[in-house]
Amino acid sequence: MAERHFKIWRGDKKGGGFVDYKVESEPGMVVLDAVHRVQARQSTDLAVRWNCKAGKCGSCSVEINGKPRLSCMTRLNQFPEGQTITVQPLKTFPVIKDLVTDVSWNYAQNKKIAPFKPGKKGTDGNYRMQQRDIDRVQEFRKCIECYLCQDVCHVLRDQGKKDKFVGPRFMIRLASLEMHPLDTEDRVPKIKEEYGSGLCNITKCCTDVCPEHIHITDNGIIPLKERVVDRYYDPILWLVRKLFRKSNIEDGKNRRGGR
Ligand code: SF4
Ligand code: SF4
Ligand code: FES
Repeated sequence: MAERHFKIWRGDKKGGGFVDYKVESEPGMVVLDAVHRVQARQSTDLAVRWNCKAGKCGSCSVEINGKPRLSCMTRLNQFPEGQTITVQPLKTFPVIKDLVTDVSWNYAQNKKIAPFKPGKKGTDGNYRMQQRDIDRVQEFRKCIECYLCQDVCHVLRDQGKKDKFVGPRFMIRLASLEMHPLDTEDRVPKIKEEYGSGLCNITKCCTDVCPEHIHITDNGIIPLKERVVDRYYDPILWLVRKLFRKSNIEDGKNRRGGR
């Protein structure tokens, strides 16, 4: 059984600092296991948020050696023996205690977004969609709301523009709604203004940290930016695309209606 050296941030909104811990490690251990071992044996008041320990609830997000990660999916053997492992709370959100941050700002962004608004059903009482359109939005539905992308986004993290940009997680939510073949809500004006799509400079830092490997920038943010450009700088192209999309859906309906 090897011993690993950890520096874990302890404190609250008034301030804090790193505390050294030595933890006995075993093969297969992840950082969350080590934090739990500290909590069980050395500092019972250490605050840490987690739920599933399977990479699916998105609640164990922290910064490990300076990089946003899920602590339940980060194995100790990723770090060379002898290297200190630092664990600290997400920088972009206010600390509540130790490794637990207040991520409620994200819930407020979610509430700002107009929900799914389907159009009328077909004459047979059913909705019809093309499989390729569903495949496109399926990727965005994998989001586990870990907010690692929000944490790393420099518009929120360094520039502090939380009042001007909803962040990559909610650009992905917007993409899942805007690209849904049955949705009829028009969110493009708000994507440009209130949600701040122009502030993203597509550096892809968000994509790099996403544990679900969602292509946040290429498949979500860039197509949304293109919709803004089409609408405000090339309205004829926007109209052509809108008509083309409508005729594609109707074509699909006709073909399926014959079955
Ligand atoms: S690509 Fe855009 S949303 Fe993603 S981290 Fe960079 S600025 Fe933020
Ligand atoms: S898009 Fe990826 S990184 Fe961002 S909240 Fe969802 S799962 Fe986490
Ligand atoms: S505890 Fe659920 S994702 Fe880590």
